[in-house]
Amino acid sequence: MARITLVGCVVALLITALADSGQDLFDAVRNGTVNPVEQLLSAGADPNTRETGHWGNFTALHEAAWGNYVNITRALIKDGADIDVKDNYWRTPLLIASWKGGTALVRVLAAAGAAVDGVDPRWTPLIAATEHGHLSTVEALVDLGADITIKDKNGDTALHWAARKNETDITQVLLRAGANPRELNNNGTTPLGIAQEMGHVVLANIIDDFSISVPTSTIIMIVGITCGATLIIVVGCYLLKRYLSARSSPPQPQISGSAQPRIEMREHIIFRNSNNVQMEHIYECAD
Ligand SMILES: *[C@@H]1O[C@H](CO)[C@@H](O)[C@H](O)[C@H]1NC(C)=O
Ligand SMILES: *[C@@H]1O[C@H](CO)[C@@H](O)[C@H](O)[C@H]1NC(C)=O
Ligand SMILES: *[C@@H]1O[C@H](CO)[C@@H](O)[C@H](O)[C@H]1NC(C)=O
Ligand SMILES: *[C@@H]1O[C@H](CO)[C@@H](O)[C@H](O)[C@H]1NC(C)=O
Ligand SMILES: *[C@@H]1O[C@H](CO)[C@@H](O)[C@H](O)[C@H]1NC(C)=O
Repeated sequence: MARITLVGCVVALLITALADSGQDLFDAVRNGTVNPVEQLLSAGADPNTRETGHWGNFTALHEAAWGNYVNITRALIKDGADIDVKDNYWRTPLLIASWKGGTALVRVLAAAGAAVDGVDPRWTPLIAATEHGHLSTVEALVDLGADITIKDKNGDTALHWAARKNETDITQVLLRAGANPRELNNNGTTPLGIAQEMGHVVLANIIDDFSISVPTSTIIMIVGITCGATLIIVVGCYLLKRYLSARSSPPQPQISGSAQPRIEMREHIIFRNSNNVQMEHIYECAD
């Protein structure tokens, strides 16, 4: 009986220790030092557990991204942390890092295979970084191939957000990356429209100047149209010449032998030659 109680106690202690190691891991991550985190992980803490009672239902990797802890992030990834895990607001660790301006962390997560555009189709890390004015993070995301065309739930692109927040440098980065200044949001407003409405004059001028400088696509279009027109003219001239020469030297009528059945053919052609003189050809062919 005493032995059973003892075993029961040991089992209970073990369970408590394991349950605690989950919370310990979050405490250690929030504390920001990598060594205690590594110790907990090697003692068997699960890097993918959710923090009990957390408002966002965070994993340890979300917590590390929140605190911008690069080394802890590396340790968690090495121990098998799920890299594109989403919290209750569809935020991946990379989205949180972008939102907080953790540029180095964004690069570490992306290098480990994290989705650069996140997992929420209506909100991206690029928009989050733009909205909060993190220029170097925006540069890193663009560099990592972030999709600049994705819109949030209001139809705003990252460029709409840059215009709204008066982020002139970010506006330039996005325009150079090919963001469309004429894109409409759900209200039918362009990034330029937002800048003008809000009195962000410098930013509006940046968009204006960029729109005036002829983009490569326009040059390609002009060259294409010119080549197409030239081709049409050349082919047209060739066909016209063939047509005219066919008219000026009509096929010789065939004079068939007496063995042939009787054929009577008359052709009466009137046309104007190049000197505008009316000419008349009458071909008659009869047996
Ligand atoms: C918290 O971090 C400090 C250094 O910043 C470290 O000395 C301490 O051991 C850490 N505590 C825990 C519980 O990880
Ligand atoms: C936290 O996320 C996990 C995994 O998606 C889910 O199973 C769990 O129900 C969530 N908990 C809360 C409190 O939302
Ligand atoms: C992170 O780790 C590197 C070595 O891998 C070290 O040089 C650096 O000081 C660490 N940073 C922090 C904040 O612990
Ligand atoms: C759209 O217009 C409404 C009303 O003016 C405004 O409240 C809302 O913020 C606008 N949304 C966007 C995305 O511009
Ligand atoms: C917007 O940004 C420009 C250039 O950085 C600055 O001169 C201007 O004061 C800003 N406007 C507002 C309304 O903050």
